[in-house]
Amino acid sequence: MKPAKFLFIFILSLSMLPSFANEPDSAYLFSYSALKNGGRNGLHFAWSPDRTNWFAIGPEHRYLFCDYGRWGSQKRLVTPFLFQDEDKIWHCMWTLNETDGVLAHASSTDLVYWKPQTYPDFMPTGNCLNPEIKFNTKTGFYDISWLNSTKTETNVFGATTTDFKTYTPARKLNADARINSRSEILIAGNNETGTIHKVAWSVIQKLLDTKKLEDFKRSQNEESTKDDPIRFANLKTQNATISIDTLSTKKISDMLIGIFFEDINYAADGGLYAELIQNRGFEYALSDKEGHDKSWNNYKSWSLKAENSTFTIDTLAPIHFNNKHYAVLEIKDKDAKFQNEGFSGIVIKAGEKYDFSAFFRNPDKKAKKLLIRLVNKSDEICGQTIVNTHSGNWKKFQAQITATKSANDAHLEIIPQTLGKIQLDMVSLFPQKTFKNRKNGLRADLAQTIADLHPRFVRFPGGCVSHGDGLHNIYRWENTIGSLESRVPQRNLWGYHQSAGLGYFEYFQFCEDLGAEPLPVVAAGVPCQNSATGGAGQQGGIPVCEMHDYVQDVLNLIEWANGDPKKSSWARKRAEAGHPKPFNLKYIGVGNEDLINDIFEERFTMIYKAVKEKYPNITVIGTVGPFNEGTDYVEGWKIADKLKLPMVDEHYYQTPGWFINNNNFYDKYDRNKSKVYLGEYAAHLPGRPSNLETALAEAHYLTALERNGDVVSMTSYAPLLAKEGFTQWSPDLIYFNNAEVKPTVGYYVQQLFGQNSGNEYLKCSITTSDKIEDVQKQTAISVVRDNKSNNLIIKVVNLLPVDLNSNIDLKKLGIKNAHASKTILKGQPTDKHIKPLTESIQLTENLDLNIPAYSFTVIRIKQ
Ligand code: AHR
Repeated sequence: MKPAKFLFIFILSLSMLPSFANEPDSAYLFSYSALKNGGRNGLHFAWSPDRTNWFAIGPEHRYLFCDYGRWGSQKRLVTPFLFQDEDKIWHCMWTLNETDGVLAHASSTDLVYWKPQTYPDFMPTGNCLNPEIKFNTKTGFYDISWLNSTKTETNVFGATTTDFKTYTPARKLNADARINSRSEILIAGNNETGTIHKVAWSVIQKLLDTKKLEDFKRSQNEESTKDDPIRFANLKTQNATISIDTLSTKKISDMLIGIFFEDINYAADGGLYAELIQNRGFEYALSDKEGHDKSWNNYKSWSLKAENSTFTIDTLAPIHFNNKHYAVLEIKDKDAKFQNEGFSGIVIKAGEKYDFSAFFRNPDKKAKKLLIRLVNKSDEICGQTIVNTHSGNWKKFQAQITATKSANDAHLEIIPQTLGKIQLDMVSLFPQKTFKNRKNGLRADLAQTIADLHPRFVRFPGGCVSHGDGLHNIYRWENTIGSLESRVPQRNLWGYHQSAGLGYFEYFQFCEDLGAEPLPVVAAGVPCQNSATGGAGQQGGIPVCEMHDYVQDVLNLIEWANGDPKKSSWARKRAEAGHPKPFNLKYIGVGNEDLINDIFEERFTMIYKAVKEKYPNITVIGTVGPFNEGTDYVEGWKIADKLKLPMVDEHYYQTPGWFINNNNFYDKYDRNKSKVYLGEYAAHLPGRPSNLETALAEAHYLTALERNGDVVSMTSYAPLLAKEGFTQWSPDLIYFNNAEVKPTVGYYVQQLFGQNSGNEYLKCSITTSDKIEDVQKQTAISVVRDNKSNNLIIKVVNLLPVDLNSNIDLKKLGIKNAHASKTILKGQPTDKHIKPLTESIQLTENLDLNIPAYSFTVIRIKQ
């Protein structure tokens, strides 16, 4: 909607509100939260001129949203109590749930922007219901009271505060400590309970204006190509004027396109990590799997086919204390088969070689011969080898299998040829053909698809995986290096087992193999804001007394990556793993879209200062929350300004309409502040498809990111990988199964930007013949020069249902007798399976351009 149209509707809707002579200078405000949706709808307001007739704003517009705990089960804002303090600051306290002794607090000067929430933990046991706040004129303190309710009784408890940050310990109070000032008001047919306040009309006006603005933004966000048959019903082919100013240029980042790797959607084990044996260490645990799937335990993926033999798990004398469980086979049948199903089957290719390895121990001290086979669903042998084990202690045995047949559904069989007891652990099968033929390497086809994006950096290990589900689930990089049997597997934040086989060494090596900069992200001393574990300490953070050690862990990472093995024990570990040369780490992310509050700031600052002091050349990337606006974004940026951070990590998943309407988002950014790493973004449509519409919206926005490449240094679409049948988040850039890799349309947009990046931006514009803003904004252009190749690259996005015809005067650009490549990605907005097509073109003085409807065109001029 155009601003003028919006203004008209806005004024009209205000005029439809009940009118009051000379607009009242004060009115009544009612604050409440509706009971529906378990109280997860946030804080609402209604207003009244006379305390009798109430007008709900929205209705049920959300002005404050609880950010406590898990999505779904928590994030509740129940029985809010709104209070204005002596300095005219509003405070809202509310109940989070019926079980925990915790309240929530947030403050605001205007009821629109709310400062970070805190969750004071008042009661070791029991709940905190119906909070109230009052000012005690005698003490000058604010008295907080609440009801603590058990099955048999309800008591009043209270605490006092001066700043709503620290509170006196809770104590039992008399019932008369309660002010019972909540009122019940009939709002839209429902009796709602809340507090009434007399406020200046301007307070209500601001609430109304906020709602209107959000409605406007929502209508923009909902714009979609599905409405094109109506909104562009009469639109004709457009003549587009493209202007490129070769004299108006600026330097831009040459690191714009990178990748975000997170072990989500089973991206690592059974995905990018080429290990073919699932649960090779017998370490799967019931608790790894959220929802506690009973089949998810140490036996997962393994079975023993035998009459009298047994398969048990033991922990008595493991290979390594980090890898406690191992298998014990008591073989009494000649044809007993110990099988592993792989990750829903094992894919093997005829003629290719596979490395089998395992630790074996013979507790009965009798040497054992083992037949190792790969067998398909039809029981045909696809390859085999023999291993002779002869050790009474744990010993690693290795053998090679050459596949004689291809199969997508094979399994591994270990067939003891000798009766008796044998113990096994770390049973592994790798294709020799991994990406760059690395041992313990990556799946070649998947890694190559990633390499084809030409990423300039790789962010890992997440995402939320970096900061973990509660304090004990924070990803500890040092647990993921060293011999595979000594690594610490861990429950994945996304609810499955992470073997840590793909650990920090492998991540860094992958970066090197891609020619990309490593960008590890460590937790900022706080876990995920949506953690299920930790109670009021969900963002409680690592205790300050343990922060010194945690900061040291972060410093150790830099030492491990860059240090001199002759001088540093951490660097020696890297050298021992096969990489004596430094990895040349330049960037480190600290924090991942955390809840930005005092707890975060204290810990982040400790880490940042320590890194800056010891490694001044390392670029520390801070975090500014999960959205492009709101409390975490604002407060995160305040910290960035205060500490003068070199860079911050922004995240936002938005609709195509948002990306198109916010193409100028970074044009407004202050060039003197921190640089931006847009670490997570993607266009999301209802149903979350990845199609041409989402891809073109991303391309449209990427032209703006190039234009703002002087302030935006890096970007990465998220998430990168998803295994079919195990997808937890959509859309993703690349889908795969055990046998195939399926890049999305969005992948090709990233690839075209990655392969056609530049380091200089040329001022440019595209104007449609129909000058209506709604038409104009569906097109976007960016022109960059890559100084290494001296190529000029023109990118044009057309999200209109009609073609654009244009002409570029090449003579004016100083281009003569050049040749060029033209790549076009086009189709219908809902298309999911299209690829770009490239052709060569010979350039004359003029370049006549036809830019098809719904397309992304890249012209690379090679001079
Ligand atoms: O990209 C998926 C998730 O989205 C990331 O783990 C998290 O950082 C964000 O919320």
